[in-house]
Parts: sequence; structure tokens; C-alpha cells
Amino acid sequence: MQQPEDKKKFVQEKFSSISGKYDLLNSLLSMQIDKYWRWKTTRLLQQFTDGQVLDLCAGTLPLSLELTRQQKKRRVLAVDFCEDMLRAGVKALPDDERKNRIFPVCGDGEMIPAPSDTFWGCTVAFGVRNLARTQQGLDEMHRILKPTGKLLILEFSRPTNLLIKPLYSLYLNKVLPAVAGLVSGDKEAYEYLASSIAAFYEPEELLAMMRQAGFSSVQRKPLTFGIVSIYIGVK
Ligand SMILES: C[S@@+](CC[C@H](N)C(=O)[O-])C[C@H]1O[C@@H](n2cnc3c(N)ncnc32)[C@H](O)[C@@H]1O
Repeated sequence: MQQPEDKKKFVQEKFSSISGKYDLLNSLLSMQIDKYWRWKTTRLLQQFTDGQVLDLCAGTLPLSLELTRQQKKRRVLAVDFCEDMLRAGVKALPDDERKNRIFPVCGDGEMIPAPSDTFWGCTVAFGVRNLARTQQGLDEMHRILKPTGKLLILEFSRPTNLLIKPLYSLYLNKVLPAVAGLVSGDKEAYEYLASSIAAFYEPEELLAMMRQAGFSSVQRKPLTFGIVSIYIGVK
């Protein structure tokens, strides 16, 4: 099994290598459904009309942008340990006032560079699967939230529908690495995507780890045949 530090280095390098093509490939390969997933996740924070939200594993900032679009007073600290992903995101930021409310910071999700009890919301889109020490990351997400603050994890899960399951598996393991490999020049990065989805925790296991980190009212909302899920927890 891969050691945590080796996984970290591998993940950092892979995202660095695809950073320039990440947004294009995201839209292409998900047929734009990813926009709906991020919209839906952000809606679950609508009770917090202002104040700060931490967008962890923020990458090229697509969720940070949606978070600042839905609430005009919201400020977002966008943390990622891959500088190239953040740089690609900053370069592509639309020329509107949201760029004044998004603060990108290079940092590790397993040691979040922020004080305790600071944020009303913490979001992680397609990032938890990439953490080398998942429980440590969840403990950190709990630490930085204010009491009653909300954690929202958007992550791939495995569909159980008997018709969808084989089709999705074919798409994920064959079609996606071939197309994404051609466009990004790094087929291995997208083979990693498929294998990391296959190896990720069962939904019940992740919910149990969230409880262990101290979250209550923990629940899962599957979306799009269970291809992705939103995991919710309250501090
Ligand atoms: C699949 S991308 C998701 C980007 C973005 N959240 C989105 O919705 O598209 C995963 C991101 O997690 C970041 N990441 C992985 N492990 C991390 C860690 N330990 N600390 C901070 N960022 C991490 C990667 O650098 C990458 O940018």
C-alpha cells in the first residue's frame, strides 16, 4: 500500500500536470453536470448569508466561484496544496467583483492554515478522496468550523443501479482515461481518478468517520444515480 507522503507527492504532481486543462476536461467529461453538483452543494449553505467559508481542495476555484455567486457578501478562503491548480484558477477568474472575495492560499488540508472556530461553512468538492490521511483532514475541517457551522463534502460515489453500474464502469475505466489522456497528455492522472473512486470508502464508512471527527446530523444525499454524493455534517 502507498505511504501517505508518497500519495501526497503523487497527487500534487498529477494535479500540477493537468492544471491547465482541468476546467475544460471537467466540463467535457461530466457533460457540464458538474456545474449542477456544485450549485446544489452551495445551496445547502444558504442559511449563512455572509461571513467566511473555507473551500478546501479548491483547485481551479470552480466551487469558490459558485459560493461567491450565490451570496453577494460571502468571502471564501480557497485552500489547495497544488499551487499550479490555484494559479490556473486565478488566471481564469472572470472579471467581476467576486475576485475581491476569493482568497486563494496554498496549504495542506491535513493541517489547515486557519484558526479554530472561524468559518460558517467548509466545502470540499472532489478533494476528500485525494487526501492521504482522511480522518486527519476531517478532524481539521471540524476544528476550523464555528459551532453550528456546516461541512459539505461533494465526492464521487459508486452507483448501485444494475443498469447504470456497468455503463458507468466502462465510461470511467476505458472512455475517460483515453479521452482525458489525449486532451491533457497525462493518461495516468485519469487512470488514478478511476482507481481512487473504486478504492474510496463506502458512504457509511465516510459518514462514520465524520461522526468520529465530532460532526452531528451527519447525512448523505446521492445525486445523478449515486455517481456523486453530498455528505453533510454540522459542528
Ligand atoms: C479533483 S480536484 C477538485 C478541485 C475543485 N474543488 C473542483 O471542484 O473541481 C482535487 C484538488 O484537491 C487538491 N488536494 C489534494 N490533496 C490535498 C491536500 N492534502 N491539501 C490540499 N489540497 C489537496 C488537489 O491539489 C486538487 O486541486
